[in-house]
Amino acid sequence: MSSVKQIGVVGGGQMGSGIAQVAAMHGIDVFLFDVDPRALSKASASVSASIARFVSKAQLSQSEGADALQRLRFTSNLEDFHQADFIIEAIVESEDIKKRLLLQLDKIAKSSAIFGSNTSSISITRLATATSRPHQVIGMHFFNPPPVMKLIEIVRGAQTSDETFAATKALSERLGKKVITSQDFSGFIVNRILMPMINEAFYALYTGVATKEDIDTGMKLGTNHPMGPLQLADFIGLDVCLSIMKVLHAGLGDNKFVPCPLLVQYVDAGRLGKKQGIGVYDYR
Ligand code: CAA
Repeated sequence: MSSVKQIGVVGGGQMGSGIAQVAAMHGIDVFLFDVDPRALSKASASVSASIARFVSKAQLSQSEGADALQRLRFTSNLEDFHQADFIIEAIVESEDIKKRLLLQLDKIAKSSAIFGSNTSSISITRLATATSRPHQVIGMHFFNPPPVMKLIEIVRGAQTSDETFAATKALSERLGKKVITSQDFSGFIVNRILMPMINEAFYALYTGVATKEDIDTGMKLGTNHPMGPLQLADFIGLDVCLSIMKVLHAGLGDNKFVPCPLLVQYVDAGRLGKKQGIGVYDYR
C-alpha cells in the first residue's frame, strides 16, 4: 500500500480524539467521527488543549500546532470516510457494536482501505469476520493518553495479511511510536499482564491488606510506576478494566482472571473512575 494520506478515526472519546491528534500532528489528514456532536466538541477542546501543552513546552512550534489542528476535521457523517486509506475504530468495547460498525465501514470505505481496531482485548480474528476484507483487518492498540504514550501494540488476526501488517507497522512508526506485535489471544500482551495486576490491587483493598493510598504508594515508589494500580484503574475507567478482566477470563479460562468482587461492585454502583468524578478515589 502506498503511503497513508488520509485517516478516518471512529469514536470521539479519550482514545479516538488522542489517536486523531497524533495522526494530525504527524502530517496526516484526519476525519474524526462520532454520532454525538457533544462528543465531537469535547474532543475538539481536548485536542486543542493537548496541542497547546506541546506548544508551551516547545515540543511543537505555534505554526506546527495550527497546521495539525487544520488537518483534523470533525464529522457525524461516516460517508466522509470514503477516501480514507486507513480507518481506526476506537468505540465502545463491545464485540457486537464493533462488528456492526465494521460492516458499515466495509460498504463505505475504498477496497484498499485497512481497518485498524483499537480494541484492548477483543479478538481481531472474530471482528474481521464482519467484513469482506478480513486480510485487511488488524489490531492497532494505542495507550492512554495517545499523544504521550510511546507504544502501539499491533495484533495480527488469523487472516491478517503480511501487507496489512507491514502497512500498519509503517504507519505506527510514522506516528512516532514503538511497535510490539502480539498474536490474537485475549488481552494481547500489555493488558494480559497489566489487568491482573490492577485486579490484584483491588483484591488487596477488598481483603483489607492495606489502604488504597498505601497500595498505590507501594507500587509507585516500590516499582517506579508513574501511577499506582488503583489510580491507574480510575484513569483507564473501572468499567473498561472490568470488561477486559471478563474477556481474559472467558478467553483464557483460568481462575486467576476472575474479576475482584470489589471492582464489580464499584462498576455496579456507577463508580467508573476519573471520567465519572468517582472511582476508587473521589475527584469531585
Ligand atoms: N497531551 C499532551 N501532553 C500531555 C498529556 C496530553 N493529553 N497528558 C500528559 N501530558 C504531558 C504533560 O504535559 C507532561 O509533560 P512533561 O513531562 O514534558 O512536562 C507529562 O505528560 C506528564 O504530565 P503531568 O505532569 O500532567 O502528569 P503526570 O506526570 O502524572 O503524567 C501521565 C501523566 C503521562 C498520564 C503519567 O501519569 C503516566 O504515564 N501514567 C500511566 C499511564 C498509563 O499507564 N497508560 C496506559 C494505560 S493502559 C491503556 O491505555 C491500554 C488499555 O487498553 C486499557
